[in-house]
Amino acid sequence: MKMRYLVLLIAFMAIGQLKAQSDETLIDEKIETILKQLTLEEKVKMCHAQSKFSSPGVERLGIPEIWMSDGPHGVRAEIAWDAWNHAGWTNDSCTAFPALTCLAATFNPDLSYKYGVAIGEEARYRKKDILLGPGVNIYRTPLNGRNFEYMGEDPYLASVMCVPYIKGVQTNGVAACVKHYALNNQEVWRSHINVQLSDRALHEIYLPAFKAAVEDGGVWSIMGAYNKYNGQHTSHHEVLINDILKGDWGFDGVVVTDWGSAHDTKEAALNGLDIEMGTGTDGLTSSTENAYDYYYLAKPFLEMIKSGEIDESVVDDKVRRILRLMFRTNMDKNRSFGRKANQEHFDVAREVAQEGIVLLKNNRNFFPLNPETDQSIAVIGENATRMMTVGGGSSELKTVHEISPLEGIKKRFAKANVTHAMGYSSGPSVYGRVLPSDLDQDKLKKEALELAKTADVVIFVGGLNKSHEQDCENGDRKSLNLPFGQDKLLNEIMAVNKNVAVILVSGNAVAMPWQDKAKAIVQAWYLGSETGHALADVLSGDVNPSGKLPFSFPVNLEDNGAHAFDELSYPGDGVNQVYKEDILVGYRWHDTKAIKPLFEFGFGESYTQFEIKEATTDKSNYKSGEEIRVSVELKNKGKTKGAEVVQVYLGEIDAEVLRPEKELKAFKKVELEAGQSQIVHLKVPVDHLAYYDEATGNWKLDQGQFKISVGRSSRLIDEELNITVR
Ligand code: BGC
Repeated sequence: MKMRYLVLLIAFMAIGQLKAQSDETLIDEKIETILKQLTLEEKVKMCHAQSKFSSPGVERLGIPEIWMSDGPHGVRAEIAWDAWNHAGWTNDSCTAFPALTCLAATFNPDLSYKYGVAIGEEARYRKKDILLGPGVNIYRTPLNGRNFEYMGEDPYLASVMCVPYIKGVQTNGVAACVKHYALNNQEVWRSHINVQLSDRALHEIYLPAFKAAVEDGGVWSIMGAYNKYNGQHTSHHEVLINDILKGDWGFDGVVVTDWGSAHDTKEAALNGLDIEMGTGTDGLTSSTENAYDYYYLAKPFLEMIKSGEIDESVVDDKVRRILRLMFRTNMDKNRSFGRKANQEHFDVAREVAQEGIVLLKNNRNFFPLNPETDQSIAVIGENATRMMTVGGGSSELKTVHEISPLEGIKKRFAKANVTHAMGYSSGPSVYGRVLPSDLDQDKLKKEALELAKTADVVIFVGGLNKSHEQDCENGDRKSLNLPFGQDKLLNEIMAVNKNVAVILVSGNAVAMPWQDKAKAIVQAWYLGSETGHALADVLSGDVNPSGKLPFSFPVNLEDNGAHAFDELSYPGDGVNQVYKEDILVGYRWHDTKAIKPLFEFGFGESYTQFEIKEATTDKSNYKSGEEIRVSVELKNKGKTKGAEVVQVYLGEIDAEVLRPEKELKAFKKVELEAGQSQIVHLKVPVDHLAYYDEATGNWKLDQGQFKISVGRSSRLIDEELNITVR
């Protein structure tokens, strides 16, 4: 009987595979038929923008335009046809989902899929064909203004978390566009800085998430970056695009520039760029009929093909890819219609926020605060009321609603006497500059201290914001410290009240000179539409926190690998930059160099206590092609239901080449009732222990001993085992 089912299953799978293959062949045939009907001019036209966020179709043949939108945390409001201002539509508000750092902090790939499906539905409803996200650039320095849009410092975590997002988006017939390929790890000088790094760092740290997006996520488009790598702009890079992306990884989708990252017609044509967007038009917009004709992949491209300098097969390849993307999106007759800003989407946003919030410190169980309390709670800080879905650059959103932290706290702690004082004012951000606030800072501080003195509890809601040189595109932070005098203010508040909790709203690590005096610290990211609700869910204990840091918090900036060297390492000398910490990014640096971080990668507390014990592997000797099966017993020893992330790190013992002390190779989030135990099984493919061998330009698996560390963060290691690879 069982055998019969198995045979049937195999038959169904084979039929499914055959059908997918025949669908693909059919589409390939259709593409060839269309290609034959297109004139050279029409083909070239498809390779560049016609407006800020669309590329033209071919009216004569009914081939639709392609519409794109940022990304990555919600579908951006409509932008004018040919200028950066909002188009002023009234039907373009969205659900703001939490920023991708928060998604990464959930360590929950199932939630990433839900996020992808929901944001994809909104993109589809808004008639977008490409959603410009997710961003998977690696968190190299806490100063990078765009870290909040990315998935942290670990290539494995970013890979595992970006794949379901992509699949979720694409179930809607909307292409995800993974960005920014590659090495866009800072905003300072992003348009020209020439990044130099070892091949090992490139392949081991900075490329894996893109590779996973292509090979495991099947992403349909990818965005180049602004910066250069080894002297060539990344959006039309021979090695990155031709050799690696389209060659080694077999990417069959579309390469889109970042907005204005194309610089040369021939390079763009020959080095794999398919659609050029956002190029500046030297003011031609007002004086020329169509400034877009002057894009690198427009008239100049056409001329070069006509003159024979570039072969027509080059444009044919681009158009094939563009048409393939269209058969997957706006020319797929079966695609759904999408949905927008409905309760289910807000619920997804809230769930991601709840699971991503990280409890960093909780002295004497300060949290959860009893929601029935009638104490006085002073909520202090600008971020308690500031909208954080606006600003930050291209990821700005126009959301249907945004529940502020103050609103959420007031609602959940309805019996408490909740008061608010700003304490400081950051000043308005205008045209990429932040103007000094015209509010009286002394008065703001005085008001806050007055409240703090008499309150039973202070909840300080501060951190960074989305203004220039904070968590914002096109500029990096200037220091690791909290801005706008918050450190000083916090010290003064802590001098008059002993019960101070700090809620940090940011997408980056900050220094915490007041850490010892804080009763509790919560990393609350940018949480989107449901910010206040999700925060109150965690502070009240309705939800037990389970988020884990996707990047390390150093004590001092110099403790971060990128900042341990001279300025050539960060931010570069204005022309070049060398990634001197090499493969030792984030916790790899802290652990290998024995530099204790303030809070480590993978760390996050819970209202209950977990224990990991009895780690075993299925055997002790392995060879290439096999899987290491690790089992551990996880126990919830406390009195509250909660979730823990079991983390498996590997390190090579006595390696001949430099290897990080340990690297994350598997994780699993498990929810347990109070008192419950579970055996948790994790798998690591042995080949994932290989390193990139620069001499051969390939991955190399050493034979020898490896240490497996199983724990609840990169430093809270409960169990260690050795295995041998033969
Ligand atoms: C950003 C991209 C974004 C694009 C379109 C660029 O400045 O780097 O991430 O998708 O603008 O808004």
